[in-house]
Amino acid sequence: TSAEAVCVVTGAAGFVGSHLCERLLGLGCRVMGVDNFFSGRWENLTPFRDHPRFSFLERSVTEPGLLREIAAEHGPLACVFHLAAIVSVPYSVDHPEETWAVNYQSTIGLLQEAGRLGCARFVFAGSAAEYGDDARLPLRESYAGDQTSWLSPYGEAKYRSSRAVAACGDGPRGVALRCFNIFGPRQDPSSPYSGVISRFAEMAVRGEALTIFGDGHQSRDFVYVSDVVDAYCRAAGLVASAPEVPAGIYNVGSGTRTTILELARMILSLTERGESIRFYAERPGDIRHSVACIDAIQAVMAWRPRVSLEEGLRETLRWM
Ligand code: UD1
Repeated sequence: TSAEAVCVVTGAAGFVGSHLCERLLGLGCRVMGVDNFFSGRWENLTPFRDHPRFSFLERSVTEPGLLREIAAEHGPLACVFHLAAIVSVPYSVDHPEETWAVNYQSTIGLLQEAGRLGCARFVFAGSAAEYGDDARLPLRESYAGDQTSWLSPYGEAKYRSSRAVAACGDGPRGVALRCFNIFGPRQDPSSPYSGVISRFAEMAVRGEALTIFGDGHQSRDFVYVSDVVDAYCRAAGLVASAPEVPAGIYNVGSGTRTTILELARMILSLTERGESIRFYAERPGDIRHSVACIDAIQAVMAWRPRVSLEEGLRETLRWM
């Protein structure tokens, strides 16, 4: 069916969304990208903007009737990939109501509409932020939601959305992918809250000192964007060799921890720079350690991360 039915990708002009569109086109799918350019960028679309199987709608996911409109024009929907969101955690703290509308209510609206349209699959962009600051490592899917207070409106909206997607009932089969720290080409380095790898890569390429917030011994689980895209395709049943995926919530990470100091040193060594690091005060609200348990996705989707941190860093640096 992938030859005729349409895959909808919300957040198509974003970092992960644009890579997903490209992969889906490569698999032979028809793709309808949706983005309102709140944080997405036109230039992310340029590699495939003119592809004959790609269409695009500049629209917010909060507007009702979006999927109905797409189905009326392009025919039945094979899968909805819902990646559009307010992606900045600090922004979510300052704008909780807008975050709720964009990061939660849109999910419910799209799920219901997808169900009415007979769409069989729904894949959602969950987040490691759903765990808040949980010290039980590695983080297992069942741990989220225990806490009564959330670190951010972003984390809460992602958690509630993931739960709704996975509890799809008679709607589309829903899979939520709880992604850890994704990195790779097209990740925007321009804000102080941008992903640490995109920031470090840009600083290294410009010959600036890398800025570490805190002592650098905090750790994260970094996963390369092409591996994340592979998980999306498996979740949607688009990888022929992969098993049928039941509804549920699955972590997507490397399953390994890297400290920020180790990361800084790797990037400095790959760019042949000396030990050029400057230490600053710890970022308020920063979590200390984070690492995913990836047993569930390995067992259910036969997925595993294929790109090592070093290989992914080389690709990211090449793109800068
Ligand atoms: C990430 C997500 C965030 C989510 C959280 C949940 C990104 C960009 N952010 O935040 O949306 O809520 O996971 O787990 O993916 N750092 C430096 N120097 C820099 C930049 C960052 O030392 O120039 C440090 C930070 O203080 C932090 C670590 O690097 O300790 C990682 O930072 P960041 O890439 O922003 O990701 P998270 O904090 O994990």
